[in-house]
Amino acid sequence: MSEQKRGMHGIWTGRWTFILAATGSAVGLGNLWKFPYITGENGGGAFVLVYLACILLAGIPVMLAEAMMGRKKRMSPINAMKELTTEAGSPSFFRSIGWMGALSGFFILSFYSVIAGWALVYVGKLASGAMAGITADASGAAFGAMLADPAGLTIWHTVFMFLTGVVIARGVNKGLESALNILMPILFVLMLILFGYSLTTPGFMQGFHFLFDFDFSKLTTESIVVALGHSFFTLSLGMGAIMAYGAYMPAKQSLGKTIMWVGFLDTLVALVAGMIIFAIVFSNGLEPSSGPGLMFVSLPIAFGTMPGGIFFGTVFFILVSIAALSSAISIAEPAVAWAVEKGFTRVKATMVICSVAWLIGLGTVLSFNEWAEYKLFGKTFFDSLDFVTSNVMLPLGGLLIAIFVGWFMSSDMIKNELKMKNDTLFAVWRFVLRFISPVAIALIFINGLGLL
Ligand code: PFF
Repeated sequence: MSEQKRGMHGIWTGRWTFILAATGSAVGLGNLWKFPYITGENGGGAFVLVYLACILLAGIPVMLAEAMMGRKKRMSPINAMKELTTEAGSPSFFRSIGWMGALSGFFILSFYSVIAGWALVYVGKLASGAMAGITADASGAAFGAMLADPAGLTIWHTVFMFLTGVVIARGVNKGLESALNILMPILFVLMLILFGYSLTTPGFMQGFHFLFDFDFSKLTTESIVVALGHSFFTLSLGMGAIMAYGAYMPAKQSLGKTIMWVGFLDTLVALVAGMIIFAIVFSNGLEPSSGPGLMFVSLPIAFGTMPGGIFFGTVFFILVSIAALSSAISIAEPAVAWAVEKGFTRVKATMVICSVAWLIGLGTVLSFNEWAEYKLFGKTFFDSLDFVTSNVMLPLGGLLIAIFVGWFMSSDMIKNELKMKNDTLFAVWRFVLRFISPVAIALIFINGLGLL
């Protein structure tokens, strides 16, 4: 039976497709929306430094481990972990890497789709010219009005979840590969245009200093936990997405180099998005710590005033939606692949999984209006879901992956798959995975438990 499952979902066709798909998964709302706003809430520079350290010391090593495990087994993370734990003779609770990952996927997809729905709303707002010449106050008010309307939010949440379902149901090769080839480069070009614009704004240097000056007195335990959690969220780690995509990777490709590229591009997009958004924030007297609305309030002000802003603004929010879509499918893929291996058709598996995530998403819709006052430990439903997935479940998944690959898989098992020619590099990676990543994650965790 397991031989039937192996490779049943397909293999990426192009040399670059894994990079494109993994970058498509990594670059999303996490970079454009979440990174700037949590940086704003956590005081800027010192937070960014901790985030970069987490990417290097935990994110990239774990990403390589995940992709390696996926390619070795060529099946869904749940079934791959079953085989890997048996082969490595490790305690069977390491199988939870697969299960817990699929569960995190449901939760993340549920709120991801709601936020992506906001991007869809903004496509319309910009295309209609409603944002032309908008002031900072009016932009804030427009965002508030959108959040106050649960029916509107539900419609766009539904549209986005439907789009996600259509792409997943068609399989990864057909829909995504060709679309991403064109769309990812456009996203980069548009970001460069916006970056050029932000350089001309009076607040650029203030924004730059906010992002890159390290004032450690601003660092709290919570901000360190959030930085770690975000490094996993932004690289799509700790829940099997990269493992699932690794399973579709051609055998010959060098995993090490590929992963470095994905990590580099993802970080670049986040930092550039941060520079653009904070330039606009400081030029217009907005509050850097204003929370989830940061991108949606600040960017329309820029588009409202720059030449060609209606066009660029519309295209930009279309691309945000697409970046979200290319991430959303990777969030659902581990669970869908598992259901298909269980015997469901891909279409049925997609329908069930997207419907459940859609239902949970309604809680997020309501946390911005009807349920805004209901709080658990001071957090709304959305905040709690975001906190628990990013800051607990993903790092825990990452911790287990680092321990499993670092301590339980034999060097031979790993080396065969990695085909890394440079022995020193292999030794450094393994060392980091064995000692640095788990200790860093565990320490941050233990400290962070006080926050729960
Ligand atoms: N990396 C995505 C982003 O930054 O928007 C979000 C994400 C995708 C998280 C896939 C987790 C995942 F498995």
